[in-house]
Amino acid sequence: MSTNKNTYQLIDSGNFKKLEQVGPYKVIRPSPVAAWPPTQPSLWKDADGEYHRSDKGGGNWSWRGSSGSRPDSEDEFLIQIPPLTVKIRFTPFGHLGIFPEQLSNWDRIRNVSSQLAGQGEVLNLFAYSGLSTLSVLAGGLDACHLDSSKGMVEWARENAQVSGLADKKVRWIIEDVLKFLNREIRREKKYIGFILDPPTFGRGASGEVFKIEKDLPEMMDLLMQLCNNKPEFVFLTCHSTGFSPLALRRILEGRIKTPGNYLTEELSISESTGRLHPAGSNCVFYSNRVKL
Ligand SMILES: C[S@@+](CC[C@H](N)C(=O)[O-])C[C@H]1O[C@@H](n2cnc3c(N)ncnc32)[C@H](O)[C@@H]1O
Repeated sequence: MSTNKNTYQLIDSGNFKKLEQVGPYKVIRPSPVAAWPPTQPSLWKDADGEYHRSDKGGGNWSWRGSSGSRPDSEDEFLIQIPPLTVKIRFTPFGHLGIFPEQLSNWDRIRNVSSQLAGQGEVLNLFAYSGLSTLSVLAGGLDACHLDSSKGMVEWARENAQVSGLADKKVRWIIEDVLKFLNREIRREKKYIGFILDPPTFGRGASGEVFKIEKDLPEMMDLLMQLCNNKPEFVFLTCHSTGFSPLALRRILEGRIKTPGNYLTEELSISESTGRLHPAGSNCVFYSNRVKL
């Protein structure tokens, strides 16, 4: 099998692990759902590195080679997720700076943003390394990018830089989600669309606790105040147990008061054999003014 060493490809999965080509490196990371045998066992033998999760939380990377350490050049490198360029790091938490199950949403976000170009600002919450934000900017809408982690906001800004989007209109905010939303409502701020991938549990910039089962309804109500319940689009994704695609749809349908359409699907990553690796829930609302 020939692999493109300039991008991301999920090669195979099985035995609760996934085998990924990330730029020049072939790595193995845990996959809590992969309770099936690998499809291509021979491809796993020459992996460069593996992330091992510890029972005590966290984990560590092990790398092939006599020193057991990763090559120097590996600290960070760029891959292409067209039209974006993305900085990759093998972080101590096992993250890479990209959630590839969002790939089809990034294309859709760019697409709907281009149809509404110049008409307003999009709010991206829990925005991580910024690929959704960059898709908004690439499409031609302004963005407000919010994450409680200073390091992640810096990473997203670097991605904007290497993607040639640093001159676009974006507000980079390091803050707790609920605190920020309440302030925006006091300022009577309005947004045209929303993107959010809420975690099961997260912490705000000053240690505030976000728990999806408790805080999601209030957060969605606050978002609706920021668009008078009439968004042009909402991309809501989730990886928490119980928040199925249908549940996400009900969460949006119960609040949105403008005619439109709902795309309701399981998030997935396409493996090199074409098999799909399940990776959470997705519901996209888009108004009758746009096509996905
Ligand atoms: C798993 S990531 C979301 C993935 C991302 N949307 C993507 O698909 O690329 C969760 C992010 O939410 C941020 N976060 C967690 N709790 C938060 C809070 N209370 N307020 C703001 N950001 C928070 C974290 O710093 C992290 O970057």
